[in-house]
Order: sequence, then structure tokens, then C-alpha cells
Amino acid sequence: MAGFSRDVVVIDSLRTPFGRAGEKGIFWNIRAEDLCVPLLKKLIENNPPLEPSLIDDSIWGVTNQVKEQGGTLGRMVTLLADWGWNIPGCSIDRRCASGLTAIGFGASFIMSGMADCLIAGGVEHMGHVPMGYMRDNHPRAIEVLGDETALTMGLTAENIHDRFPEFTREMADYYAYFSQMKAAEAINQGKMDNMIVPLDVELADGTKTTVRKDQTPRPDTTLEKLQSLKPVFRPDGRVTAGNACPLTDGAAAVLLMSRKKAEELGLKPKMRFVTASVAGVDPRIMGTGPVPATRKALQQANLTMQDIDVIEINEAFAVQVLYCLDRLGLKMDDPKVNIWGGALAYGHPLAASGPRLVAFLQRIFEENPDKRYGITTMCVGSGQGYTIIWENLC
Ligand SMILES: CC(C)(COP(=O)(O)OP(=O)(O)OC[C@H]1O[C@@H](n2cnc3c(N)ncnc32)[C@H](O)[C@@H]1OP(=O)(O)O)[C@@H](O)C(=O)NCCC(=O)NCCS
Repeated sequence: MAGFSRDVVVIDSLRTPFGRAGEKGIFWNIRAEDLCVPLLKKLIENNPPLEPSLIDDSIWGVTNQVKEQGGTLGRMVTLLADWGWNIPGCSIDRRCASGLTAIGFGASFIMSGMADCLIAGGVEHMGHVPMGYMRDNHPRAIEVLGDETALTMGLTAENIHDRFPEFTREMADYYAYFSQMKAAEAINQGKMDNMIVPLDVELADGTKTTVRKDQTPRPDTTLEKLQSLKPVFRPDGRVTAGNACPLTDGAAAVLLMSRKKAEELGLKPKMRFVTASVAGVDPRIMGTGPVPATRKALQQANLTMQDIDVIEINEAFAVQVLYCLDRLGLKMDDPKVNIWGGALAYGHPLAASGPRLVAFLQRIFEENPDKRYGITTMCVGSGQGYTIIWENLC
């Protein structure tokens, strides 16, 4: 295991279907841990001769670590998967980028020679553990965050509209429509099928069923309907239920390995971890975080945006994506960006969204071996951005 700067590769990445948070959601009667366990089992099942005893760690991003999401969920899920007491696990929190950070930390763990093989994932049951639930803000929180709008993500999106009025409500609605249409097409073409692990659930009305598809996308979205929606966070605002990501339950996980271990096991690496970068921004416009994080990551990798063929950016709010794309020199309908749609359609189960972006990128790379570099990037509540650059090995 000794050695430094070893290549880290993704062997596989999977996710649950994504459900709407709340009683009408497909996962109302399932706990957060039970969204993760089937992913752990399936990652092993899909990748023989891998077995649980080879997993050096199970690192899970979880934003709100209370109730069922507390108690070091990352450890609990390996036990619930019946992997025995010898497989360790932990939970980490960087708000929305918790899962992406789990991947970044996992990659550095392998790169430094301290692990060979691990699972990095993210989960959020926003229906059971709502955003900010039981949080006790420090008395100086509002002062250090800038003002009270930094505590409500929808208001941070309104702040971007206020500060950068060139990104209009009309553009935000168009972007949201575009995301829904790309998602509808990808789903129809079966692009989600081999990344989703079906789950047996009991719905709130007692019906038992196997869920294979996301509940969140709205393929019947029309531009007219989006334009007619009322602002939800401020009476004079521009952020609506249509151009904001929905509240979502879901989990996603990535199998990371040293390239050497993958070769030993005869497993095909899908993509190589190039570098990761995290940056801080004004918490009142937290949605701008991907811009400095991406610039820093590109600099670390000695690449430019021109070298990047695929961009998977998390869509917390349409306006923050508009801002980020513009500042990174991309058009809002750039064909490299969120090719299969984004979180405005699929939803954003906070910590699960980073590994979900990786699962998308892996499949896009598999379909497009000619595309070399890809980015997964997200904004983060309280003002951060997190970016990982990947190289296609398919
Ligand atoms: C914006 C928000 C408050 C809306 O909550 P909500 O009212 O429960 O949202 P819904 O999805 O039920 O949408 C409300 C209505 O808007 C309409 N609507 C929403 N999206 C639509 C779309 N794409 N097309 C057409 N109509 C749409 C529908 O009429 C819907 O009612 P219906 O479900 O009965 O059809 C909530 O989704 C939210 O808080 N999002 C942001 C989450 C967040 O901050 N995450 C962290 C980011 S950093």
C-alpha cells in the first residue's frame, strides 16, 4: 500500500431513484440508512471479485447528522449491509458538497497510500430530516455570514438575481425548462437505468412496490407554466418552485480504487481522479461557489475550460447556474453542460448530489470515449464551491 501520488480511479457508481421529500414521496417509509445499504451491496455484487473485506473505508456525506442520519451513518451502513465488524466507516459534512467531499477525501486517502479501495457516498432524507433541523446557530452566525438571507438558500438565489440583474427570471425559467426537457429525453432513452438500484418500498398509503425511476422530474413542464409560477422565497422575488431544485430524498455512492488495485482485481477503471478544489465565497451568494472552485481546480490540473468536454454542475437554483456558466465562459445552453439535465429535474438530496453527478459523468464518459476531461461541481450553503476534475478512461 506504500507510495504517494498513486492514480485513483472510479470503478463504479450507483444511486437510488430520487424521491420527493414528504409524505407523498416514495421513500416516506424508508430510513436514510436503508437508502445506502442496497448501494453498498450492489457495488460489491456488480464488481466481482471485489468483496467487502477489501473495502478500507466507507465515507458518507450526510448534511444533517441528527435522527436517523446521526450516529456515524457511514459506519452504521456497513454493519447494516452485514459486512461484519471489520469494515470501518465515517460521516462527513460540507453541506451540499458532503458527498463530493467524501469522494475528494477518499481519493486523497488512496493517493497517499493509506487505502486501496473504498466507498464514498452521500445520502439525504430531506423528508425525515429537513434542512436546518435542530440546528442551533451561533449568536454571531448572522453577523459572520453577512446577513440573515445567508441562512435560507432560496434567498441566496434571490441575492444573485439582485446583484447580477443580467440573469433574469425569464432566463432562469428557460434554463429550468431546458433542464427538464434534457432529463425527460435522457430518461426516455434509458440513460438512468443502469445507474439506479431499484428499491422495494411501502408507500404512505400502504401500497408495496418496487421503485425503479425518479419521482422528481416533471416531463410535462411547459415554459408558460414555469413563467406563471409565483415566487416562493420573497413576494417580489424571481425564484419559484420551477426554477429551484425540489426537496428530495436519495442516496448515491462511488467505488474508488488505486489503479494498481483495480489492475490486480481485473476491474476496468472508468475515470481517473485528476484533482479537487474547494473555495469559499460570500455566503449571501453561495451559489457562485463553483466559479472559484473550478478556476482553482483547473489551475491545479494545468488545464483550461477549453480542455473540459463534459460539465456536470449541480442545479440548486437556475440563477446560480446561469451565473456560474457565464463566469466560466460557457453559454446557458452549452452542449457540454448537464447533457442529461440536472437537479432542477432530478432533485437535490443534498449530500447525495455529488456522487450523483459522478454517476452521470461516468455514464456519459462510457458513451463518449472521445471526451477526455469532465468536471463535477457544486455550490455549498454558507458560501463554498467544490469541484473535482476527472479524466475519461473508457
Ligand atoms: C421551492 C420550494 C419551496 C417549492 O416547494 P413546493 O411548493 O413543495 O414545491 P412543489 O414541487 O410541490 O411545487 C409546487 C407547485 O409548483 C408547480 N411546479 C413546480 N415545478 C414545476 C415544473 N417544473 N413545471 C410545472 N409546474 C411546476 C406545480 O404546480 C407544483 O404543484 P404540484 O406538485 O401540485 O403539481 C422547495 O422545492 C424548495 O425549498 N426548494 C429549494 C431546496 C433547497 O434550498 N435546497 C438546497 C439548495 S442549496
